[in-house]
Amino acid sequence: MEIQWLLCRTEAVPAGDGWLGPDERAVQARLKLAKRRDAWRLGRFTAKQLLSSIERSNALDEIQILAAEDGAPEAFFDGRPIPGSISITHRSGVAACVAARATKVGCDLEAIEPRSQRFVDDFFTAREREAAQQVGARLRDRFVALTWSAKESALKVLRVGLRRDTRSVEVELDNVDAPRSTWQPVKATVSPENQTLSGWWRLYGGLVLTVLCDDPALCIAGHDEQR
Ligand SMILES: CC(C)(COP(=O)(O)OP(=O)(O)OC[C@H]1O[C@@H](n2cnc3c(N)ncnc32)[C@H](O)[C@@H]1OP(=O)(O)O)[C@@H](O)C(=O)NCCC(=O)NCCS
Repeated sequence: MEIQWLLCRTEAVPAGDGWLGPDERAVQARLKLAKRRDAWRLGRFTAKQLLSSIERSNALDEIQILAAEDGAPEAFFDGRPIPGSISITHRSGVAACVAARATKVGCDLEAIEPRSQRFVDDFFTAREREAAQQVGARLRDRFVALTWSAKESALKVLRVGLRRDTRSVEVELDNVDAPRSTWQPVKATVSPENQTLSGWWRLYGGLVLTVLCDDPALCIAGHDEQR
């Protein structure tokens, strides 16, 4: 079994609304801020492109991605729920979507940029803080972005987002120094449940993308970018 993923850039999103379903158009009409509306459209378009290839349908308006009560995205095809789970993230004109039939998934894009020691102290566990110190100046921003991103991905798997303390998720990364365009493993332990989530991370320009799920037996398959 595989987790499917797709990245899209803003330029790929069609100008009109013909690819949105009627419920989505109603949601869009309530989004007053242009920046938020653009990010929402980009996330929707990315998710629909991915799901249309999985569902083998070219009618993007028949696939609708609607937010559940908790904010998590849920997918429908011709009004019926698409089995499995999806996750959406958008950042700096790029969006990613992951989809899986038999596991809960979460994904998150973050910029690699300087973040303060205060940020690390407030949101990371003791072990993560220690690892941030040991990683060295050259990789610190990447490490902090990856750790934060993996926490957000984990909190999306759990469908709670930042309502929950980010220190209840402890992230372990492999190969922080890895080159671009390769998937690397990442693990997250959720406390006090002691639940283990497993997944992958990779670089995309100045961003990191993390993907987590609750089934360690899965692999990841997808496309770099929708052009
Ligand atoms: C989930 C959350 C961590 C993502 O924040 P972010 O990193 O800034 O944004 P990202 O672009 O990576 O992800 C946004 C997407 O996460 C998804 N999402 C939102 N709530 C979610 C939840 N509870 N579980 C899983 N996914 C969720 C949505 O698809 C959203 O995009 P969309 O609204 O355009 O469909 C954050 O929105 C959150 O904590 N939400 C729940 C609590 C809340 O609503 N707080 C108010 C603001 S703190």
